[in-house]
Amino acid sequence: MSNNPSDTTLRHFLDLKGFSKETLRAILDLSIDLKTRLKTGERPELLKDKTLAMIFERESTRTRVSFDVGMRQLGGQTIMLTGREMQLSREETISDTARVMSRFVDAIIIRILSHDDLLELAGAATIPVINGLTHLSHPCQVLADIQTYEEHRGPISNATVTWVGDANNVLASWIHATAIFGNKLNIAVPDAYGPSQGMLADIAMAGDLITLSDDPKAAAKGADLILADTWVSMGDKDADQRRKILDPFRVDKSLMDLTAKDSLFMHCLPAHRGDEVSAEVMDGPKSVVFDEAENRLHIQKAILAWVFGIEKLT
Ligand code: CP
Ligand code: NVA
Repeated sequence: MSNNPSDTTLRHFLDLKGFSKETLRAILDLSIDLKTRLKTGERPELLKDKTLAMIFERESTRTRVSFDVGMRQLGGQTIMLTGREMQLSREETISDTARVMSRFVDAIIIRILSHDDLLELAGAATIPVINGLTHLSHPCQVLADIQTYEEHRGPISNATVTWVGDANNVLASWIHATAIFGNKLNIAVPDAYGPSQGMLADIAMAGDLITLSDDPKAAAKGADLILADTWVSMGDKDADQRRKILDPFRVDKSLMDLTAKDSLFMHCLPAHRGDEVSAEVMDGPKSVVFDEAENRLHIQKAILAWVFGIEKLT
């Protein structure tokens, strides 16, 4: 990898927006292949001698563990770091951090709330950078969601997907995915926690594929997949008000009863039973949330391989 920050051959994974369908399909196919092989005891060491730095400014269970385990399964190594224990917490700049890390390791995955900080890191790094969640998007999650839907029900392009909750980072990546894969996306969000200007522009780019309302029942009617997420994302400060305003946006059995007969329920987790989803739905027969969580491992491995230029197994 060159040490030139303007190197356009660098493969960052920052947002689904901007990717071609072919590239995302290649990552999904690789994830399925790696998953199949893992289940039969085969662990291709695609990233032997590579080191991944994992910078977590915020809490994580799935993203952190799946990248760590995934990198090891691919024969590579990881270094876990939190912003607090780095000089970032003593005002070293993001771009100086990126330049230094680029001399030591081969790729960085970062969870950081500020999307601008993610972009600054990627702009200054001379190694690939992966977005492990910002306040604006969560692209790794949504690829795992799509893999999970397709394993259970077939092509996502044939699906009507419904989002119920607030207009958050996971929804943003679903909007990006919809414009690329061509599924339908019905969004039900309250005005108080509706889309930002940037998200509205992305919704407009997807044209007729996306509907936007504050009516969970209308949005859920006939849907193949219902998506929920926590009402209080990391960094949100108004938890009590959110719980009050989002109360009508709970996914419960009466809402699921409006969906297609063979519909599925997904949640990126962590979930809060009784808030955004009832325990009956979360732990019920339509819920595939733990398959979804497992697929984080397989998709992470495919994303890691892709940033290093590997799109297919031999
Ligand atoms: N869904 C998800 O990203 O989970 P973590 O916050 O535990 O990583
Ligand atoms: N929207 C949630 C996702 C957690 C994985 C958050 O940002 O906290």
